[in-house]
Amino acid sequence: MTMTAPVGHPVLAAIAERWSPKSYEPRGLDDADLCSLFEAARWAPSSFNEQPWRFVVVRREQDATFGRALAGLVDANRAWARDASALVFAIASLNLARNGRPNTKALYDLGQAMALLSVEATARGLAVHQMGGILPDSIAELCGVPEGFQVVTAAAIGYPATEPEGGGAARSRRPLRESVFGATWGRPAEFLG
Ligand SMILES: Cc1cc2nc3c(=O)[nH]c(=O)nc-3n(C[C@H](O)[C@H](O)[C@H](O)COP(=O)(O)O)c2cc1C
Repeated sequence: MTMTAPVGHPVLAAIAERWSPKSYEPRGLDDADLCSLFEAARWAPSSFNEQPWRFVVVRREQDATFGRALAGLVDANRAWARDASALVFAIASLNLARNGRPNTKALYDLGQAMALLSVEATARGLAVHQMGGILPDSIAELCGVPEGFQVVTAAAIGYPATEPEGGGAARSRRPLRESVFGATWGRPAEFLG
């Protein structure tokens, strides 16, 4: 099942084809695929090369643990994430290793790592559905996340089901002209035409 975005300009296939399914084939992931997803995340850029990302990965084969990890999602997300191959909790290190001060770019950098992971997953026929609808304290307790780290999001990773339940919602984005400005805020950049 693919849900290719109706892009207005050419982009890499793995960008156009990335989407967030709510229906998965209930099967496991290869170790090699998992390694490559996190290798992609590893090579994300980050402020001062701090690499503030940390990931906790729970695979569906870990029956009881997978069930407890699902319990760290809000009900609406738990309902569809149960068939995913793995749940990943994306966690940020909040302070700079170099001087202990708050890393104000930690969440930004964690997001970049997840973006690269998602694109790598797409290129491998996998899908990643990120979730803000989580119970961070439950997840932190379950996984033993120490002080100084924040559980920011979860992601379901798996093989999109051939026929998604209820069909896939249409992909949409606001036009570039509403997001990309020239020197003056609100005025579309000239290269957009
Ligand atoms: C940080 C973040 C939090 C999200 N939280 C949820 C969520 O809790 N539940 C959900 O179903 N989708 C969630 N999503 C998925 C978005 O709704 C989805 O990416 C968006 O609608 C665009 O669809 P697409 O990813 O298929 O292009 C989240 C995505 C991101 C990046």
